[in-house]
Amino acid sequence: MHVLVIGSGAREHALLLALRRDPGVTGLSVGPGNAGTATVADQYDVDITSAEAVVALAEKVGADLVVIGPEVPLVLGVADAVRAAGIACFGPTRDAARIEGSKAFAKDVMDAAGVRTARSEIVDNPAHLDAALNRFGPPSGDRAWVVKDDGLAAGKGVVVTSDRDVARAHAAGLLDAGHPVLLESFLDGPEVSLFCVVDGETVVPLVPAQDFKRVGDGDTGPNTGGMGAYAPLPWLPDEAVGRIVDEVVAPVAAELVARGNPFSGLLYAGLAMTSAGPAVVEFNCRFGDPETQAVLALLDSPLGGLLHAAATGTLADLPPLAWQPGAAVTVVLAAENYPGRPRVGDAITGAEAEGVLHAGTARRDDGAIVSSGGRVLSVVGTGADLAAARDAAYALIGSIRLPGAHFRTDIGLAAAEGRVGA
Ligand code: GLY
Repeated sequence: MHVLVIGSGAREHALLLALRRDPGVTGLSVGPGNAGTATVADQYDVDITSAEAVVALAEKVGADLVVIGPEVPLVLGVADAVRAAGIACFGPTRDAARIEGSKAFAKDVMDAAGVRTARSEIVDNPAHLDAALNRFGPPSGDRAWVVKDDGLAAGKGVVVTSDRDVARAHAAGLLDAGHPVLLESFLDGPEVSLFCVVDGETVVPLVPAQDFKRVGDGDTGPNTGGMGAYAPLPWLPDEAVGRIVDEVVAPVAAELVARGNPFSGLLYAGLAMTSAGPAVVEFNCRFGDPETQAVLALLDSPLGGLLHAAATGTLADLPPLAWQPGAAVTVVLAAENYPGRPRVGDAITGAEAEGVLHAGTARRDDGAIVSSGGRVLSVVGTGADLAAARDAAYALIGSIRLPGAHFRTDIGLAAAEGRVGA
């Protein structure tokens, strides 16, 4: 089976490495990729937002399966076009991808499916903003206002704050830019990312993970696309994954089927484990980044077979997934000034070691690997437990040199020290 992976991040690098371990995968292509993915797959330049361009590339490389990594092409309907061309595709239709592309749609589906989630309100008129903010404040805890862009914002459209002025300024900025704003109540409790491979009403969960969205240690500073992750979650009770599937993911998958928009691909539930049970923070319609880098490091089952089964409606026929024991940790190395405008173009040393996944990298004409984006690399460490996996990841990131780069030093630390509880 020849697999074409669409995307250019460390998530796609992790997908390619896991696909390469699958004996059923005989060829790998990627577009547009980065300096790291070019060492794993045949790499092609492609506009991932163009359905015509992705279909043309899939036909050119003779793809038997196309795996679409990022949300933007999915929300634009690229998976629909690939399927219409007669090629199996891992990724939902445009209609089903609205579970991520429109937070209002996701809330409507969750309401209909009876799934626990934050109280929310859409504001699309600046004149209604102050009254709406008042309905979500004043703060009773330390983080009262959750203000989101009701669309795709790569994690950076969310502000969680106890400062009304900050909440108001963010919401007003979104409204000025013509974006409706979603206000939500804050869900207290540790967060879980549960990735489920879904094919209609069939739901196959992967190991649960947790990611770290703030830029600084101790969850300080602005939100980012993600600064690190670990899997599995030693603090999560054994029965929790089954409960999340039964109470959250399966009802949403069934509701999408009932609406005539069956989901096929990766349904990512971002949850808070509240005292009332798992509650949805958000759904995404694709693998999460950086959790994928940790989750796939532990997968023993053939990934190509899993994704192809979902893409062709045969997921229910697969045996249970097999996982390596132990834990995996991924730590993101970010460019200077990220998540602001990142410094780019610097040569990186140590980027070709095993366990180093590439995101914002490019190869210069002289052969050097240089930074080309905000999140530059994701290093992955595995070990017998979370502490050992952290040690491996931090030893690896310590061997990499990139001027001005920064990373969090506390990925998975609280869990390794037993300071997280559901
Ligand atoms: N881990 C956050 C995301 O992928 O959106």
